[in-house]
Amino acid sequence: MKFFIDTANLDQIKEAQDMGILDGVTTNPSLMAKEGISGDEKVKQHYIDICNIVDGDVSAEVISTDFEGMVREGEALAALHEQIVVKVPMIKEGIKAIKYFSSKGIRTNCTLIFSAGQALLAAKAGATYVSPFLGRLDDVSTDGLNLIEEIRTIYDNYFYETEILAASIRHPMHIINCAKIGADVMTGPLSAITALLKHPLTDIGLAQFLADHEKSNK
Ligand code: E4P
Repeated sequence: MKFFIDTANLDQIKEAQDMGILDGVTTNPSLMAKEGISGDEKVKQHYIDICNIVDGDVSAEVISTDFEGMVREGEALAALHEQIVVKVPMIKEGIKAIKYFSSKGIRTNCTLIFSAGQALLAAKAGATYVSPFLGRLDDVSTDGLNLIEEIRTIYDNYFYETEILAASIRHPMHIINCAKIGADVMTGPLSAITALLKHPLTDIGLAQFLADHEKSNK
């Protein structure tokens, strides 16, 4: 399973990249705003800065909600760097735009997916990635993992090449369960990724090994 980090924070992206396990980055307008990145030129430069840190795909989201606007924005974003994947919302105009981008060889990530039907449409339009929002479904008492399972079954039935990018990950169990189901990619915060490292028996065991080494080398 590929690991993407879901942030626009350059320090966190560097930290994950330095661990050697990072395969890409996803951003969205809220994450850009959180970092105080605004204005067309600054936003574009920030995407380039992210691409220069990570070896892998970087999702950059369009703001337009009409076909022409999405195409204009998406083409400009894709021209910034070869690692850019154009992130397009799951609406009718978005599906048209994904179909267009697909015919032009521009890679896309269809975002804000909350149902299997939406994921099926995105795959038919030729999306490179589809982003079901697992955590946000859990937030409203709906089983987000069940959606990932449904999409996996549908894509496998028809050999769709669209990759399932499990998004809105909140904690390490989301990551582990997505891996069990067979999501192609997960995107989550650095805290969820580093939480995978932790086990108290590892800490106790390491402390014991180091203490024993110290004693026998006095
Ligand atoms: C996905 O690409 C989105 O940026 C993200 O995963 C949304 O996560 P949230 O529900 O934690 O905001």
